[in-house]
Amino acid sequence: MGRQSLRERGLAVVVAGVVVAVLGTAINWPASAQSTGLAARKGSGISTTKHNLGSSGTGNNTIAAGTGAAASPSTEICVFCHTPHAAEVARGPLWNRLAGTATITPYTSATLTGGTVSGGMGTALTPGSVSLACLSCHDGTQAMNTLINAPGSNGYNAGGAAFGTLVSGAGLITGVAKIGGDLTNDHPIGMKYAGGRADTVQEVGGYVQFTKGTINATDAWWVDTDTIGRTGAPAADSSRQKTDMWLYARTGTTDTAYVECASCHDPHTDNALFLRIPNTYSSVCLSCHIK
Ligand code: HEC
Ligand code: HEC
Ligand code: HEC
Ligand code: HEC
Repeated sequence: MGRQSLRERGLAVVVAGVVVAVLGTAINWPASAQSTGLAARKGSGISTTKHNLGSSGTGNNTIAAGTGAAASPSTEICVFCHTPHAAEVARGPLWNRLAGTATITPYTSATLTGGTVSGGMGTALTPGSVSLACLSCHDGTQAMNTLINAPGSNGYNAGGAAFGTLVSGAGLITGVAKIGGDLTNDHPIGMKYAGGRADTVQEVGGYVQFTKGTINATDAWWVDTDTIGRTGAPAADSSRQKTDMWLYARTGTTDTAYVECASCHDPHTDNALFLRIPNTYSSVCLSCHIK
């Protein structure tokens, strides 16, 4: 028994040694390999877009190099929208920004069927959390560098604080990119897709049928764009891709899905205008509307 357990222990030590060796190999990538990998990723996606607000970005709303609290934190990109801890949960996922302060006026029209109905006019609901996330910059009331949890130790400020120094101006979005709080002149958001009927029973005729799938036991809805004859589209399938039009659930609702800003836009893509698919031949519009 004693000998056997010694043997077992010996084996355990050998196994542990192998595990350490394997982990060691995995963790200790040569620095060159690490930087090549990161540089390759840095060269595509969000970093080359107007949503790179760090010092490696090129827009007016970026912050100046080398001004952060810790070593070169201004090269961080995600931090202008997300924080791994102490996030604001009422808006986007792991959201690092407070709400904008513009008063929201939703879209109304005589023919809208997917929102609330009052006085014979259809009115889109107030924006869902994903849209509020976009509007925390695009309502034009809050500087890009006002963060809840800035990079580095003790960067947290519940009321939001300026991080780094802006390259120029006040860091507010202006011009046509400033959607503002008045959403009456914008494509409606915050309304139920296709009249808001539950699941597969939708308003007949005007809309492409959405897909309701289950991702890890959670309901997910999207309008599949693979079927609209777009160049380079994958074959029609039953999985959700970044290039499908995402529909979003709302807290307290499980029966249906809503259109929000990120249904048409992916804030992380390097497609023109952050569109989920290029709008060639009005492909974005025709993904949902049968016209
Ligand atoms: C300009 C703001 C902005 C920046 C910068 C940004 N995100 Fe996001 N992100 C959002 C918004 C808004 C959403 C929610 C909308 C959606 O569903 O995509 C989101 C959603 C996500 C999601 C969940 C949904 C999905 O698409 O998988 C992940 C994961 C994510 N972001 C990771 C990142 C990472 C990593 C970075 C940095 C490389 C980053 N984001 C930078 C705005 C941003
Ligand atoms: C993600 C799906 C989706 C995409 C993409 C989309 N729409 Fe819509 N659109 C809707 C829904 C849902 C409504 C609300 C209809 C309702 O409830 O009556 C709507 C409403 C509208 C309305 C107002 C209808 C009314 O009764 O007031 C117009 C006009 C419109 N869309 C045009 C467009 C155009 C143009 C594009 C492309 C730039 C586009 N849509 C892209 C889903 C979409
Ligand atoms: C952290 C702030 C921030 C957030 C959050 C944010 N944006 Fe932006 N976005 C910007 C800035 C800054 C610009 C550049 C504005 C300009 O051109 O002056 C921009 C530009 C854009 C543009 C125009 C791109 C172009 O090439 O002209 C689109 C479209 C856009 N954003 C969509 C969105 C959507 C949709 C969301 C949410 C899913 C979102 N943004 C969230 C800061 C933000
Ligand atoms: C139904 C689809 C759809 C929805 C929902 C939507 N957008 Fe857009 N958005 C577009 C399309 C398509 C364009 C490109 C229009 C063009 O080429 O002129 C665009 C353009 C933009 C631009 C660039 C304006 C310019 O001309 O430079 C911004 C900024 C923007 N969207 C932000 C948002 C925000 C913020 C929301 C939510 C409040 C939102 N979008 C909701 C489809 C949509």
